[in-house]
Amino acid sequence: IMLLKRKKERQAETVGQTNLSKEANVILKIEGELKKQLDMIHLTEDDLRVLVGLQPLVCAEIESIVSRFYQNITNQNNLLAIIESNSSVEKLKQTLKRHIQEMFDGKVDIDYVEKRKRIALIHAKIGLEPKWYMGAFQDLLQQMLSIFEQHITDFTAYRTAVLATTKIFNIEQQIVLD
Ligand code: HEM
Repeated sequence: IMLLKRKKERQAETVGQTNLSKEANVILKIEGELKKQLDMIHLTEDDLRVLVGLQPLVCAEIESIVSRFYQNITNQNNLLAIIESNSSVEKLKQTLKRHIQEMFDGKVDIDYVEKRKRIALIHAKIGLEPKWYMGAFQDLLQQMLSIFEQHITDFTAYRTAVLATTKIFNIEQQIVLD
């Protein structure tokens, strides 16, 4: 446990100092109307580089993020019922872990879009209404902000992290709720 903690702290320090991985290999390859949606929220390759820089911190915190996420959802009886009749918290924790880490992969292309369209279909099929989906996303954002606040001491780095994260969260919601 001590070793793990030290590793976590090291990763967090790196994030605090520079969270723009200048050499990170990012992909922003989108055409058509979605390109206009990206332009409207000013999501650029630099944002994707910032997200890649944040990925180690997000990975270090992923267990806690996902467990709080489902704690919050299952506090609502209606949402717990949806989960239990279609899947299980344990199964969804695994898919969400992967999904959140992928938000910080620095890759937004046709595969990215198709995957989110599939998530939209799945959520529609189980009768999840947009208001609950948006509520869950806001909780996730609040968790991220609290993690950044704890680990990113430089204000400019913190601000850059918050902006990039809100942009990637926003474009995902635009696609899923379209
Ligand atoms: C499935 C993400 C909100 C219930 C999924 C999957 C992902 C995902 C990645 C897996 C899709 C696949 O198998 O390819 C998210 C995100 C959310 C969100 C990012 C918001 C931040 C919710 C909420 C509920 C929920 C609020 C509450 C009931 C489910 C269920 C499935 C699922 C039951 C599995 C359906 C099935 O396997 O048939 N979600 N979800 N999700 N989600 Fe969500």
